[in-house]
Amino acid sequence: MSAFDTEDDIIPRAGVIGWPVDHSRSPKLHGFWLQQHGLSGRYDKLPVPPEDLAAFMTDLPKEPGFRGINVTIPHKVAVLPYLAQVDPVARRIGAVNTITVQPDGSLHGSNTDAFGFLENLNMDAPAGWSATAGPAALLGAGGAARAIIVALLDAGVPEIRLLNRSRDKADALAAEFGPRIIPADWDERAGALGGASLLVNTTSLGMAGQPALDLALDDLPADALVNDIVYSPLETDLLARARARGNPVVDGLGMLLHQGRPGFEAWFGVAPAVTSELRGAVLA
Ligand code: ATR
Repeated sequence: MSAFDTEDDIIPRAGVIGWPVDHSRSPKLHGFWLQQHGLSGRYDKLPVPPEDLAAFMTDLPKEPGFRGINVTIPHKVAVLPYLAQVDPVARRIGAVNTITVQPDGSLHGSNTDAFGFLENLNMDAPAGWSATAGPAALLGAGGAARAIIVALLDAGVPEIRLLNRSRDKADALAAEFGPRIIPADWDERAGALGGASLLVNTTSLGMAGQPALDLALDDLPADALVNDIVYSPLETDLLARARARGNPVVDGLGMLLHQGRPGFEAWFGVAPAVTSELRGAVLA
């Protein structure tokens, strides 16, 4: 069975492809915005197993009303060969999370995770916060870390101390992204917080069902901003401990919400906002 609904309508449509895709919060996010703006449109979960990806991508431009899709695990890299254009940020990240069907039927790919990460900090950090203020300490070297590295480099961060359990992945990112990336061993993570202006956890540690993030914060300056991209739970142990010692903190839900804005605007023609009502709806 095709992931496409065979319903005979031509209202504007979008959705999220993944395998599995049940856990995705994107339908709640885009559904909220559609309703808020009184738009007749649909945004659906589209379960696409890897073996069906080629057929799905070929059929996508032919589906009535389909304006585009979000892409999640495991397809963020695998969709690249089907795209006529890939924007420069997505190329550097090496993955695509947002696809738009162009008027000529070709597919345009972008990656809005870097945008979402930075918008979340810009909106929720204390006034005057800037990525240029000082070194960042980044935990993890997976796909999320790549997007955050691109975001911070473009925002003018002077240095990224990159700490990853598998040191070779941190080294590879340093070789790829240049001298502002300083890779270090996972065991050095506590000491690497000295003098940092920003601490970001991009690992899965601290997520519900995953091991805790074991990280002593003693060396972190009291005014350093702390962000965890884990948003389940919303207040991770890292954020709770940082908050308790007086650091400003930003939770991870905002990155998810802000990364959805460019796609929604491209597909449905309205620039949506991230509000506390939206946060509540997506968490519900
Ligand atoms: P994502 O795309 O969300 O970044 P990922 O590519 O699977 O997910 O990356 C997960 C990150 O969490 C990696 O940096 C991983 O470290 P490794 O590169 O060593 O695998 C990190 N991670 C996962 N479990 C971990 C653990 N128990 N201890 C330390 N780091 C862990």
